[in-house]
Amino acid sequence: MKLKIAILPGDGIGPEITEQALKAVKAVAKKFNHELEYEYGVTGAAAIDQVGDPYPEETHQLCLKADAVLFGAIGDPRFDNNPKAKVRPEQGLLAMRKKLGLYANIRPVETFESLLHKSPLRRELVEGANFVCIRELTGGIYFGEKGRKDDGNTAYDTNTYTREEIERILKLAYEFAGKRRKKLTVVDKANVLESSRLWREVAQEMAPQFPDIQTEYMFVDNAAMQIIQWPKNFDVMVTENMFGDILTDEASVITGSLGLLPSASIGVFTSVFEPIHGSYPQAAGKDIANPIATILSAAMMFEYAFNLPEEGKIIRDAVAASMAEGFVTEDIAEGQAQRTSAVGDWISHWIEKQ
Ligand code: IPM
Ligand code: MN
Repeated sequence: MKLKIAILPGDGIGPEITEQALKAVKAVAKKFNHELEYEYGVTGAAAIDQVGDPYPEETHQLCLKADAVLFGAIGDPRFDNNPKAKVRPEQGLLAMRKKLGLYANIRPVETFESLLHKSPLRRELVEGANFVCIRELTGGIYFGEKGRKDDGNTAYDTNTYTREEIERILKLAYEFAGKRRKKLTVVDKANVLESSRLWREVAQEMAPQFPDIQTEYMFVDNAAMQIIQWPKNFDVMVTENMFGDILTDEASVITGSLGLLPSASIGVFTSVFEPIHGSYPQAAGKDIANPIATILSAAMMFEYAFNLPEEGKIIRDAVAASMAEGFVTEDIAEGQAQRTSAVGDWISHWIEKQ
């Protein structure tokens, strides 16, 4: 099969981690005789520096032509510390999500047996925890009307959702739950927010169409607590853009490191696969960042974009093997910490040897 991939390394550790994922992708392509074609595009601060736009049209066209996009990370402290900056790297990521119609962000939260002791939670709480957070990605407060008034002294961001936006994400979430343990938790703040009341209303209307799935409703503050207290109770969780952003960073902690969680963003056009973590600028260029979240994102790319589950599985097995071996970066290492590039090499060689 021909695999046509756009690679957007982005900022900070982005280039290093996407390089390791690419090594794994190359190893898989070779092993399963797929023809791999890939091309790089610029995004984020790097693109602002080069062309003044964090998601240039050229990059967008590259994504549209590709069968999948492998994305690193976006963000640069030069902009974080300057609230007056007119263009920001993050706008590139948001523009990409919007223009590619990536309304669903799928973030699986899985624990690794060999890492259970790294979790800040007790082993018995996290052992076997396995859930998926489905985050709405192109609506809500990220994209609603925003601005300043009163000479800049009042600022507002609007949280807007339409019935259509809610229906399509809930439908996808129900389909996911149907393939898993058949439990869907709809997370909102319907006791306070009107937009959340619409979410709940739509969910209550849809639930009877999925009689084999247990629908549960939970306020986001309570969900934040339950993720930590009873992570095993969740199967599929669906929520709006910002709640999903926050809850998945929180959820990553139970697995032992933010450097482990991959994601898939799917929707209307080409799907994008990216780690859930940011650009970790302090580590950029140091060859110390954990590449596993990006490598697992490549596994999701095989499964979701190419419908090649065996190829995805071999990457997952390779990652599990590197962890069982303790051949990992400093965030999760017990003894000797390995370099980013060494972990990428180890994983791709493991794949080649199978
Ligand atoms: C994420 C990130 C982004 C988000 C930022 C970089 C805009 O935190 O993908 O979770 O908030 O969506
Ligand atoms: Mn985030």
